[in-house]
Amino acid sequence: MLTSLGDAGALGGLAILFLAGVTFLADSASASSWRPNYDESKVPSYTLPDPLEMKGGGNVADAEAWRTRRRSEIVELFRKHVYGRAPGKPEGMTFKTFDLEPKALDGKATRKQVTVSVTGKPDSPSMDILMYLPNRAKKPVPVFVLLNFQGNHSIHPDPGIKLSTSWISKNYEGVVNNRATEACRGKAQSRFPVEKILERGYGLATIYYGDIDPDFHDGFKNGVHGALDKPRQGERPPDAWGAIGAWAWGLSRALDYFETDRDVDAKRVIVLGHSRLGKTSLWAGACDERFAIVISNDSGCGGAALSRRAFGETVERINANFPHWFCGNFKKYNDREGDLPVDQHMLIALIAPRPVYVASAEEDRWADPHGEFLAALHASPVYRLLGTEGLPTTQMPQVNQPVMGTIGYHIRTGRHDLTEYDWQRYMDFADKHLRGKP
Ligand code: GCU
Repeated sequence: MLTSLGDAGALGGLAILFLAGVTFLADSASASSWRPNYDESKVPSYTLPDPLEMKGGGNVADAEAWRTRRRSEIVELFRKHVYGRAPGKPEGMTFKTFDLEPKALDGKATRKQVTVSVTGKPDSPSMDILMYLPNRAKKPVPVFVLLNFQGNHSIHPDPGIKLSTSWISKNYEGVVNNRATEACRGKAQSRFPVEKILERGYGLATIYYGDIDPDFHDGFKNGVHGALDKPRQGERPPDAWGAIGAWAWGLSRALDYFETDRDVDAKRVIVLGHSRLGKTSLWAGACDERFAIVISNDSGCGGAALSRRAFGETVERINANFPHWFCGNFKKYNDREGDLPVDQHMLIALIAPRPVYVASAEEDRWADPHGEFLAALHASPVYRLLGTEGLPTTQMPQVNQPVMGTIGYHIRTGRHDLTEYDWQRYMDFADKHLRGKP
């Protein structure tokens, strides 16, 4: 059964519910009667777990105790209960540059395309990294890295981009028999203002998320799960990695590559993601402290939004509609968010003291903008313990009024999407933290 709704979030909460209802009616009787809560007065009362309280009691006394004990306790809780356990860097991984165009985009950029072979063996899964680096900027350059939904060829009409040969959801324009065609080129370009990024002196790197793990539930046979999981005897362990864990792992492998590329400043890599891929960028940034800045765009449930609010999408709905995204244990918390030993403010806290930006969209109620803001707010005590300012407000800002401390936040007008407005704010935030601009 195909469980991917593609980037269905772009259609807005109610449309998703409708799609989800149609797709999953057969195996989820309650799906037809369930309605998301969009009423703030009906948010259940809840108590958030304290990121600064050690397991077994007692407060985290200082930055040292956070770094040496509490941080790893929380990473472990997220591994065990939410995203699952990923392997490390695989032995035998190889990088092969198959395209190097120094005068791409009318001479504005150097385009590189690199294949990362996960095991280096002929049957290995592989992912292609597409990069545009600004020719006018001094090297090495800071780079934004993000996964994309429709294939690298979708981010720009540039005919030099390799057309993906991977499985792609047939919901996307131009895809035939789950494969890309020439008609797919540039179809997602509104989300990738490449020239604007280059103008501001940043590089852009992107990878099709389906290269790492195709977004449908096949029992974890394809993608990197199939290649790296130990041979199974019976059931997968309840803390085995899901798709979000795999996508995040793939971002770390891209960072392994950047460390070998002299044009990229691997110490100034900004990981960004939209929607399910925003959940992914947060988890990648939490696990891999090499990412200098982490950005979540409209990531919602299982991303920046507090699970305990159960506003819009809930743990139960996300597990029913996307059973392959999280680990098996996460299903225990269906309709029991209050029993989770973590909430998503703790995921944001794991990024401390590195800068993190959470962004919401006004019409994206499915992702619970207020819950995303509150998670950023409640991560702040950890930032302050580590000597940085956290979020510089306790009040949810008005639309299009970004706030930028070490934690940044904005809610913009409009729907669930990654827009140029979002990008410009992320570049302002990166300028502030990586280039010392006010
Ligand atoms: C669905 C899903 C969200 C997800 C979104 C997306 O709407 O319910 O959790 O963020 O798809 O990734 O587009």
